[in-house]
Amino acid sequence: MSKQRLVIFDTTLRDGEQSPGASMTKDEKIRIARQLEKLGVDVIEAGFAAASPGDFDAIRTIAETIKDSTVCSLARANEKDVRRAGEAITPAKSGRIHTFIATSPIHMEMKLRMSPDQVVEQAVKAVKLAREYTDDVEFSAEDAVRSELPFLVRVFEAVIAAGAKTINVPDTVGYAIPYLWGERFAQLIEQVPNSDKVIWSTHCHNDLGMAVANSLSAVLNGARQVECTINGLGERAGNASLEEIVMAVKTRSDVFPVETRIDTRQIVPASKLVSTITGYPVQPNKAVVGANAFAHESGIHQDGVLKHRETYEIMRAEDVGWHTNRLTLGKLSGRNAFRTRLKELGIEFDSEESLNAAFARFKDLADKKSEIFDEDLQALVSDVAASQTPEKYQLITLEAHSRTGEKPRASLVLKVDGQETPAEAEGDGPVDAALKAIETVANSHANLKLYSVNAITSGTDSQGEVTVRLERGGSIVNGSGADTDIIVASAKAYLNALNILDANVARAHPQKEGV
Ligand code: KIV
Ligand code: ZN
Repeated sequence: MSKQRLVIFDTTLRDGEQSPGASMTKDEKIRIARQLEKLGVDVIEAGFAAASPGDFDAIRTIAETIKDSTVCSLARANEKDVRRAGEAITPAKSGRIHTFIATSPIHMEMKLRMSPDQVVEQAVKAVKLAREYTDDVEFSAEDAVRSELPFLVRVFEAVIAAGAKTINVPDTVGYAIPYLWGERFAQLIEQVPNSDKVIWSTHCHNDLGMAVANSLSAVLNGARQVECTINGLGERAGNASLEEIVMAVKTRSDVFPVETRIDTRQIVPASKLVSTITGYPVQPNKAVVGANAFAHESGIHQDGVLKHRETYEIMRAEDVGWHTNRLTLGKLSGRNAFRTRLKELGIEFDSEESLNAAFARFKDLADKKSEIFDEDLQALVSDVAASQTPEKYQLITLEAHSRTGEKPRASLVLKVDGQETPAEAEGDGPVDAALKAIETVANSHANLKLYSVNAITSGTDSQGEVTVRLERGGSIVNGSGADTDIIVASAKAYLNALNILDANVARAHPQKEGV
């Protein structure tokens, strides 16, 4: 069967960043963009340029850096957004503007307060303006799943005539059912004039757990671009997960008439990087990238796999990048070896100063932990980056005491705006005591939304990577910290979250009008 190309459009840096608290710094976005390029994604949606000057700057830098993937910015269908997106992608070797407007009755009436005629007019104007910046323009009909078919046909016909090259049909609210979603693609492709001149794209959310199934049903009915994210990150329940789409198409090549250009061995490294940076752990039983995805527990399965792997395995762990993370560095490794390995992982430092800071932390870690793996290096770089957020609070020392039958206590010294301040507290456990001690000083009035600890590597000498999600006045931030001592890691993560809250800059949300 001759195969057509399935375009992989990754939106981890845009829709993925809309997950509560998953916002990333510019450096973190660049690290992820480099890994996505290595993975071989065709289009990287690097952000929403009009959201804030920081988002604009990150997209522009990614556009300057990435050479092997198209770099895209999202834009609402209005002049200001489209111009910002156009300016942000200007340096790209290959740049795309992705403009969208809602087309469902509920969104047009209740959110946009626009008539269908006005929506068509605005969509056409936005596409024409976008074409002044690039030939590669994508149009999305937000909430297409709840839009009326004849109206979708009308909008799509108009934007194709205006110059859109990719037509994206989003299930914005995760409402679709696979066979109906596939049917919708077949109807659109049949009914929209000039449908053969564009690439049809699907963008599915996972509210009912069917984002991947819906995307694949669209592919079976003519979609040739899938919008997805690493680990299925994204608004609310997330987006279709890139790794599941790619491996489904590859493993069931007997069913899907398409192929991707993804280097599947880069999937697990990409998953780990995104999880480390966003603080969203991957559930152990997650398909393809979960820690148990290739672990056979039952005796019957183990016996079968030992006799003949394919008795129970449909994919090879090494083909998706498991076990490729070799032991990299140790106590005796020098600065050059450290820099070289980080470079291989796609991490470069913008100054000798940051390299030195990272190397000092590496030496510190190597004193506590004899074997240092790639995951440790990723966490270490995130830790160094976290310490570069303006730091109102810094941890100087921490001592925690717990003993059976006694109330755990923690005492610590913080530097607050340059001034050393001691604090102590009791808690229900040593972590609780440490965070309470911090609060006696910070008095932040923030609500703790999530606390999670993840072992970065296997073994009891693993670093614990802690994520703390805090909410204050509607802002949600994630702080992270890693250390071989999980109480220290917890304190670092909590302070990181407080520092981010303190330095927080307002950003617009693409799907809220007027912000
Ligand atoms: O879910 C959605 O509708 C979106 C659009 C902006 C494509 O993310
Ligand atoms: Zn979306």
